[in-house]
Amino acid sequence: MQENTHTTVHQFILDRQNDFSFATGELSRLMRDIILASRIVNRDVNKAGLMDILGNYGSVNVQGEEVKKLDVRANEEFINALKRGGECAAVISEEDEETNHINTRGAYIVAMDPLDGSSNIDVNVSIGTIFSIYRRLSPVGSEVTMEDCLQPGVNQVAAGYILYGSSTMLVYTTGKGVNGFTLDLSIGEFCLSNPNVMTPEVGNLYSINEGNYQKFPEGVKNYIKYCQEDVKADKRPYSTRYIGSFVADFHRNLMKGGIYIYPGTDKDPNGKLRLIYECNPMAFLVEQAGGRATDGHTRIMELTPEKLHQRTPVFIGSKTMVLKAEEFMQAQAEQVNGG
Ligand code: AHG
Ligand code: MN
Ligand code: MN
Repeated sequence: MQENTHTTVHQFILDRQNDFSFATGELSRLMRDIILASRIVNRDVNKAGLMDILGNYGSVNVQGEEVKKLDVRANEEFINALKRGGECAAVISEEDEETNHINTRGAYIVAMDPLDGSSNIDVNVSIGTIFSIYRRLSPVGSEVTMEDCLQPGVNQVAAGYILYGSSTMLVYTTGKGVNGFTLDLSIGEFCLSNPNVMTPEVGNLYSINEGNYQKFPEGVKNYIKYCQEDVKADKRPYSTRYIGSFVADFHRNLMKGGIYIYPGTDKDPNGKLRLIYECNPMAFLVEQAGGRATDGHTRIMELTPEKLHQRTPVFIGSKTMVLKAEEFMQAQAEQVNGG
């Protein structure tokens, strides 16, 4: 009989436990809880058409956006799993205006977008979950403070996403590189499929909602023109790829090389994506994979959040491409300042 060479994510985490800056197993247990919930959400996502969970929930979330039934279910599944596990002190979720206080004995804060790309749920297009883990700053046993929740991305101890795509993948980092796991449905386990993910220095994909072109800052418009120029030597013109699920767009670009931009505009200077549970975890991942993430000027992970649901412009992906986009943003800033 052929030997089973699958490395499950749980085995992988146990083997690497000493890589964590604190080898207590707490973070491993927290990851276990997130993974369990993601498998339940995966089941729901796969049955979505059959379970009467499509469509709108009939309310709007704190961002003023329509809430889908699956968003609500996913949020509940992750919070329930984290409550059962006991390691999590509080959860910041896209779906909840305030912090969910879970367990004062927990040492960790989890920030998450339980279902990302919700406009794609009803049409069987890839969606995802994004998570980010911090160690709390206040003493274990006390109430979680706002300072615990508003930590800069550089304080993350782990981050990752689950992509519910043509297969289901978990990609995460604890600050020692990025590893990807694919859900093997026949055994119900995530198995190592993409060890030590590194993103190409430069790719030929650019991802932006070009329907908003008229509203983009001049720097972004000029960068798009640059992407479209015919310069064979550096693979231009680049191809546009935009799914409208950040997780799926990010994952494709991480693997193939590319840049994802969600810029600010005059009307929405901070863009659309949320700093704490969308941009920071992806910034941590991309940097660990050799890429770059900024708001056009400043490193995403060095921004200090002032509000739980704060938004930020984001330029994220292959290092050379993000640096080039930043050059265009800088040129615009110098022009505005008469420099
Ligand atoms: P969510 O479904 O969690 O609200 O996130 C939607 C986000 C993100 O997934 C995606 O990249 C972006 O919105 C798409 O926005 P546009 O439709 O404005 O391009
Ligand atoms: Mn989202
Ligand atoms: Mn969401």
